[in-house]
Amino acid sequence: MILPSHLSVRDGRLAIGEHDTVDLARQFGTPLYVTSEDRIRENFQRLSGALTAHYPKIRVLYAAKANGNLAVFRTLASMGAGADVFSAGEVALALASGMRPASLLFNGSSKTPSDLVLAVEKGIRVSVDSPDELRQLDAAAGEAGRTVDIAFRVNPAIEVPTHPKIATGLATSKFGIPAARILDAYREALALEHVNPIGIHCHIGSQILAVEPFAHEVEVLIGVARDLIEIGVNPKFIDIGGGLGIPYHRETDRAPTPEEYAGAVMPVFLRGIKELGIEPELWVEPGRWLVADSTLLLTRVNSVKTAHKTFANVDAGFNLLVRPTMYDSYHAVVAANKADAPAVQEYSVTGPICETGDILAKDRMLPELAAGDIIAVLDAGAYGFAMSSQYNSRPRCAEVLLAGNKAALMRRAETVDYLTAPMMTPPWQE
Ligand code: LLP
Repeated sequence: MILPSHLSVRDGRLAIGEHDTVDLARQFGTPLYVTSEDRIRENFQRLSGALTAHYPKIRVLYAAKANGNLAVFRTLASMGAGADVFSAGEVALALASGMRPASLLFNGSSKTPSDLVLAVEKGIRVSVDSPDELRQLDAAAGEAGRTVDIAFRVNPAIEVPTHPKIATGLATSKFGIPAARILDAYREALALEHVNPIGIHCHIGSQILAVEPFAHEVEVLIGVARDLIEIGVNPKFIDIGGGLGIPYHRETDRAPTPEEYAGAVMPVFLRGIKELGIEPELWVEPGRWLVADSTLLLTRVNSVKTAHKTFANVDAGFNLLVRPTMYDSYHAVVAANKADAPAVQEYSVTGPICETGDILAKDRMLPELAAGDIIAVLDAGAYGFAMSSQYNSRPRCAEVLLAGNKAALMRRAETVDYLTAPMMTPPWQE
């Protein structure tokens, strides 16, 4: 198997950075998420470097939804990242990590009244998703005697080659304002007293393995900027969202590199702004690309069973990693304690959840497995723990952070008491 540079096989066992994964599983127990802080730093540097090589005024906003651990936020904050935030929780984490309010963008198509008040209070810019929201935000800002800097989320009606559930800029998507109506929205904002339209925002989808849709998106946004200038708005930032995909099928996927991504979008951007005579900041909102490959989900084989096929029943299921079940996503798996043994048998790696769809990895050739073996699920750092649940009343597992030769918990495992703690006894059951 082709492994990314922070993973290797040592003495027949899978290693992440300097750490033996089997030792980590033993020390901290399974199931277990392990994340390489060094890899996140490397990813950030690579992506931000590829963009700033073309233009200095780049701002990287980490898409907080990809991985909500505070230690991950802190890592990215220390590199200079801001964040794309979607909730009060993400705002709190971003601020707790040291990110400044001015480096956040509050996104989302369905913000609550308290979300809007929070953005106003903290001085966080808002990507406004509808005229209705615009009026509510103006009223909230007016009440606080403040003015909020805003962008509008543009729906560019762009088809992208990804799973339909994570394409966000289709004409039929719930996000953003159609390009045909966007100018009216800015006009309305200009007429209001407590919102200050200074940006343009867009996000076309996630896990995109082609660069052309991004270049097309930038072209659409430059068109919006041209119209804005005509009505007297000089855009201070153009935010092109996230979406750059990673090669989950390590053998066959051809994923664009950050340099190829930058090479496709930056010339369109630079030509456009030159023509318009403006110098806005370019913002990007990567989630997956920064954190996905930094993390393994380590899971122990509970039992092996041969029925119509052979199942390796492990201790992590879609409660901890829902992507395979939800999007038919592929994650590579490695038998961590038999990492250089020959692959001799086809297995489906199945979790402990009471549903047939609880399959982490379908029909994979692996070394002969037995109870007690450790399976590493690769590329689990984005939308992994972040989308986990307590389904089947299973407490969530721990997360460990690795840096150099150090390893420490960044989240302790939940317990059954933790599950029941918020439950209440209605008076008639007492
Ligand atoms: N910006 C906005 C406004 C977004 O909605 C998203 C992701 C991103 C940035 C970051 O996209 P990324 O660079 O990570 O592709 N749960 C799905 C992915 C959902 C993405 C939601 N929005 C998955 O597991 O594949």
